[in-house]
Amino acid sequence: MRKGILSLTAAAAAMTLGLAACGGESGDTTAAPGDGSSTQAAAPGKVGVILPDSKSSDRWETADRKYLEEAFKAAGVQYDIQNAQNDKNAFQTIADQMITSGANVLMIVNLDSGTGKAVLDKAQAQGVATIDYDRLTLGGSASYYVSFDNTKVGQLQGEGLAKCLTDMKADKPIVAELNGSPTDNNATLFKNGYDGVLQPKYDSGEYVKGPDQSVPDWDNAQAGTIFEQMLTEQPKIAGVLAANDGLGNAAITVLKKQKLNGKVPVTGQDATVQGLQNILAGDQCMTVYKAIKKEADAAAALAIALAKGEKPTASTTVKDPEGNRDVPAVLLDPQAIYFDNVKDVVTDGFVTKDELCTGDFAAKCTEAGIS
Ligand code: BGC
Repeated sequence: MRKGILSLTAAAAAMTLGLAACGGESGDTTAAPGDGSSTQAAAPGKVGVILPDSKSSDRWETADRKYLEEAFKAAGVQYDIQNAQNDKNAFQTIADQMITSGANVLMIVNLDSGTGKAVLDKAQAQGVATIDYDRLTLGGSASYYVSFDNTKVGQLQGEGLAKCLTDMKADKPIVAELNGSPTDNNATLFKNGYDGVLQPKYDSGEYVKGPDQSVPDWDNAQAGTIFEQMLTEQPKIAGVLAANDGLGNAAITVLKKQKLNGKVPVTGQDATVQGLQNILAGDQCMTVYKAIKKEADAAAALAIALAKGEKPTASTTVKDPEGNRDVPAVLLDPQAIYFDNVKDVVTDGFVTKDELCTGDFAAKCTEAGIS
């Protein structure tokens, strides 16, 4: 089998190679109980994946886990996917257990760069290959990084809000920003992206800069409280840049109480069922669809190659500004979704018509050309 070049197109191929030696279904441990001998370390290895939580976005449990599992199963590589549920101590413990039970590749979505780095460094010291999945660990030591172009995600959000404000003929709208977690490097990149669009408009007086706040841990409930305060202090907020669908929905819930939903455009990200339904209802301006299957496939292809002891190459590099190093990376392209192209997300198989077009949404789905 081929070593080396790993591009997105090769990713799928890599996954179909399969592996005879290992019957590796899944799940948890592989260690032969009671025998801690060194025979366990033999090829083909095992991949450990730590997801961050299940509340900051639906994606982690509904999309990432599913697609990663499918890829590992198809390749016949053993894997163990766990969720740290936003607990940094649990994150470290899970990593330790994965390594003890034979993982030779560790893929993480960090909860913050500091604790992520500790986990990565420890793994590396034990000869375990590491991948930053979706979030770059600043100053970390991951051998690879797989994600989307996150500045572009933010840019699409900024442009999306601007488009919806224009459609509404908003005059000098006051724009509020509900940013992601301050500990997530992606949240910084999203903000760089949308502020790149919005700041010039604030500067020129086309828009008025309103409240601008981060939501710790992307906590949706806290986002509601934060936005409620924003709206109390500034009742004329006319547009909301919310960094993902969960934060967007929190803002929409508050706007609904004031009967302002649909009048104040709100952005999002992740193309969750809830976000897409909010778009269909006219309460959300747009979301950003990130084809998570492609992200999971690319990361799994790297992990599978590493588990087999290969040294895959990635298609590009990204700069880690804190560690001052170029990290081999795969970066995918995000897509803006408005009412008119919600159907693209269904066509791509990311959500099904059945889960999206429930109850009152059925008529909206028809209107949006989803059949
Ligand atoms: C991911 C987003 C997600 C957010 C909250 C970010 O790092 O890129 O897709 O919505 O975390 O989980």
